[in-house]
Amino acid sequence: MSEDFESAAAQAVARLTAHWAALESLALPVEPAHAPGATARALPASAPERGEPLERILADTWSVVVPGLVHWQHPAFLGYYPTANSPASVLAELVTAGLGVQGMMWSTSPAATELEQVVVDWLAKALGLPGSFLHSGGTGGGVIQDSASSAVLVAIVAALHRASGGGWRTDGVDGRYRAYCTGQANSCVPKAVRIAGLGEPVEIATTAGTGAMDPHALAARLDADRRAGLVPTVVVATSGTTATCAFDPLPAVADVCRRHGVWLHVDGAYAGSAALCPEHRAVNDGLEAADSYAVNAHKWMRTGTPCDVLWTSDRASLTEAMAIRPAFLHNPATESGAVVDFRDWQIPLGRPMRALKLWYVLRAHGLEGLRAAVRHDVGLAGRLARTIDREPGFHLVAHELGLVAFRYGTDGQTRALAARLAADTGLVCTPAEVEGRPLLRAVFGSPYATEATVDQVWAAIRRHAQAC
Ligand SMILES: Cc1ncc(COP(=O)(O)O)c(C=O)c1O
Repeated sequence: MSEDFESAAAQAVARLTAHWAALESLALPVEPAHAPGATARALPASAPERGEPLERILADTWSVVVPGLVHWQHPAFLGYYPTANSPASVLAELVTAGLGVQGMMWSTSPAATELEQVVVDWLAKALGLPGSFLHSGGTGGGVIQDSASSAVLVAIVAALHRASGGGWRTDGVDGRYRAYCTGQANSCVPKAVRIAGLGEPVEIATTAGTGAMDPHALAARLDADRRAGLVPTVVVATSGTTATCAFDPLPAVADVCRRHGVWLHVDGAYAGSAALCPEHRAVNDGLEAADSYAVNAHKWMRTGTPCDVLWTSDRASLTEAMAIRPAFLHNPATESGAVVDFRDWQIPLGRPMRALKLWYVLRAHGLEGLRAAVRHDVGLAGRLARTIDREPGFHLVAHELGLVAFRYGTDGQTRALAARLAADTGLVCTPAEVEGRPLLRAVFGSPYATEATVDQVWAAIRRHAQAC
C-alpha cells in the first residue's frame, strides 16, 4: 500500500501542478456547463466490493470530478469572496492528513495545541491586533475554527454565557436575550443567532447609502430594549460586508456596546486580512474594545479552506460557555490548569491539527509575500473600478479593497446583466442587493489574475451589457 501511495502521491502532485498551470494560462473554463445530475450519473450506484488501485481513483478524479468543478482559483473567478490556496497550504494539508492527529486537548497532542497558540499569536501581531487578543497577553487568545459561521456562533454563545451569568447552561434561554446586527451582516449571523436560541436578530438600520451600521440607531434600540426588560447580549458588527465590503463604524459601535455592557463580535471574514498592509490598518480601528474578532485566512491569505481564526479578549467567558468535562476527557494536564484545551473553544469535540497549514503559509510566503498578494488584488480591483466609472450606462456602487460593485442602467437591466453573466461559463460574478436594489460584484483573489484578465473580464461584461 505504501508503494502504491508514493507513486499515486507523485502523480497527484504532477496533476495538481498541471492544473494550476492550466488555470494560469486560461486553458480551462471557470465553471462547467454541466446539467444537474451529470456527475452523479457518471458514478456507480454503490461502493466497490473490492479495493481499487489509488492510481485508477486518481485518474477518475480528473475524468469524472474535475470537469464538474467550478475553479475558484481561476483568474476570471470573481464571485462571492475568494477561497485562497497555495502550494504551501496544500503541502501542509497532506502532512496534516498523513500525521492523522486529533488535537482536541493538549494531552491528545501537545505540539498541535502549542503550535496553534503560537501561530494565532503570530497572525494577531502580523495584523496589528490589540494585545488583549494574544495567548501571551493575559485574558485572551485565538483559535482556528472551520469557518466564520462557527466563529460567530461560538462568540454568541460566549456572550450569552456572560450576559446570563452562566445561567443559560442550566436554565436554557428565555425570550429576553437579544442579538443585534444590520441587514448587511452575512447570512451566517442570523443563522447563528437562531441556533443559539435567541430567535431573530434585531436589525439595526444602516446609514443611508453606506451599507454600514448607524451607531445612533443601535444606541436607541439598546436603550429601548433595556427599558422593556430585555437583555441586550451581543452586537455583531462587520468589517467588510459581503455585498459591498462596507465597514460598520467600529469605534462608535464599540463605544455604544461598552456603555451597555454588551459583547461586541466583529466579523472581518474577508477584509480583516487587509490589515497585513500598513496602508489598510484602519480596518482594525475600534477592535481594541471588541470582545471577539474573526478573520478567514482561507479567504485572502493563501491558506486553503477551511481556516478561520477567532480571537477573544475574554477567554474565560468563551471557554466556560463551551466547557465539557466527561470522565473520559479527564487528564492530569487539564486538571493542572497549565494548558489550553481547544475542545473548549469550539463546537465539535474532535479537531485536526489545524495550525500546520497556517504555519506553513506564514513561513513560506512571509508577511511580505502575503502583503504583496493583498496589494495585487487591490490593484486589479482599482483597474476595473476606474474602467467602470468611465463607462456611460454603468454606475460604480462601491470600490473597497479587492471588491468592485456596480449597476448597469436600470434595476431591470442590472438583473438582466446578472442573468447573462450567470449563464456565461467564462467568468463568475455574483449578484447582491443593498437597500432593495440589485447590484453585481466582482472580487479579485486569484494569484493568476493579471491586468490582462481584468481587461478580458471587462470586455465580457460590456458585451453582455450591450444585449440588456
Ligand atoms: C463578511 C462575511 N462573513 C462571514 C462569511 C461566512 O464565511 P464562512 O463560509 O467561513 O462561514 C462570509 C462569506 O463570504 C462573509 O463574506
